[in-house]
Amino acid sequence: MTGQQNMLKMMSLKHLLVISLALNVGLISRVMEVSREEKHVKKVKDDAGSKTVSYSSFLPTSTAAPAAQDDGSIINLDHGDPTMYERYWQQMGDRTTVVISGWQLISYFSDVRNICWFLESAFANAIVRLHKQVGNAVTEGRHIVVGTGSTQLYQAVLYALCPENASEPMSVVSAAPFYSSYPLMTDFLKSGLYKWAGDAYKFSKDEPYIELVTSPNNPDGASRVAVVNRKQGILVHDLAYYWPQYTPISFPADHDIMLFTFSKSTGHAGTRLGWALVKDEEVAKRMTKYIELNTIGVSKDSQIRAAKILNHVADSIEHGPESKRSDNFFEFGYNLMALRWAQLRAAVHRSDLFSLPSFPSGTCRFSSHHFKPQPAFAWLKCERDIEDCEGFLRRHKILTRGGKHFGVGPEYVRISMMARDEIFDRFTDRLSMINLESHHR
Ligand SMILES: Cc1ncc(COP(=O)(O)O)c(C=O)c1O
Repeated sequence: MTGQQNMLKMMSLKHLLVISLALNVGLISRVMEVSREEKHVKKVKDDAGSKTVSYSSFLPTSTAAPAAQDDGSIINLDHGDPTMYERYWQQMGDRTTVVISGWQLISYFSDVRNICWFLESAFANAIVRLHKQVGNAVTEGRHIVVGTGSTQLYQAVLYALCPENASEPMSVVSAAPFYSSYPLMTDFLKSGLYKWAGDAYKFSKDEPYIELVTSPNNPDGASRVAVVNRKQGILVHDLAYYWPQYTPISFPADHDIMLFTFSKSTGHAGTRLGWALVKDEEVAKRMTKYIELNTIGVSKDSQIRAAKILNHVADSIEHGPESKRSDNFFEFGYNLMALRWAQLRAAVHRSDLFSLPSFPSGTCRFSSHHFKPQPAFAWLKCERDIEDCEGFLRRHKILTRGGKHFGVGPEYVRISMMARDEIFDRFTDRLSMINLESHHR
């Protein structure tokens, strides 16, 4: 071997050593990070279990026992079906059971003196009571309009805000990524009154418009404010997720039109109820008119059931943040979401193919917890060379909703965080096993 060859060999050995050292340092720091995340999952579980009042009975049974073996079946996290709340309501047993006799609630009418004449007063009272306790929305000086889900109220509000004699349909915008149903609901019936005009950041027309402000946002969980900010704009605030299990409540929302839903507050999506808090009397009247023509009111049976459930939630937090009641509904939701987000972040770290948004911490004026938002959806980004994240996860039998439905690129997917425990556990287990090796196989 010549001296030059010897030199080369020495250099490549040195390089190899440096590279392997770098790889090891990377590996060690990743292992440490993963173990930090896993410790965090354990801490969240311990914290929930060791409170003065034990919430441990509300933690998923699957966290106490080892997770069930992944049988490789399809995991569907495409829809935001809030079944994670089922366990809490099962544990409440008959405390929210409602019995309605055959002769009751027969009439179309609830209160003919009210603008929204099909609004049950028990439901309206429960809504006001809960908002006052949680401090997430101003109810004074507002009309309440009930809808068959916030979905019906969305259509009612578009109808209410558009002049009947305008020469052009009114533009409806929302900042991307926006809730995937907005464009579909807006253009479904090809209305002459309004039309979907896409991403609010790109809206440049000098004409009247409606901007939907969803905060916390579906799909990415961000706290939002209006982005267009022009004189001719009307804002509709969709506050479906402005509840203390998902985000710190920083102030009582005080907007002209605010939409809430029973689906994401207590988990009762099947009851199909939502409510709008509306400042302007004319807007409330026109929304009511829409619902009158669309469905001649809203199920009274549902409203009575919802009143019972909302009052239970209000009772469970009656003594404010210091409430030591073990059935504190928001404490249940807060702990469960904290656990799930810790679990998901640990899985994402372990896999190394994905990333998640990070959020600033805040102190919740309702619960006094200082925490980072723990949204109802995870907005996951595929890293490396994965271009179609939805397709990639589908190959691993995980069904999600891809970025293009929300007005952005296919490298993103929305994943529901609200499934039943065993489905969510199976999902995080499977996600953590997807790595670079399995990706290139
Ligand atoms: C932001 C937002 N608004 C409205 C809705 C519709 O809620 P509802 O079940 O009351 O129709 C949803 C449901 O996912 C949502 O995420």
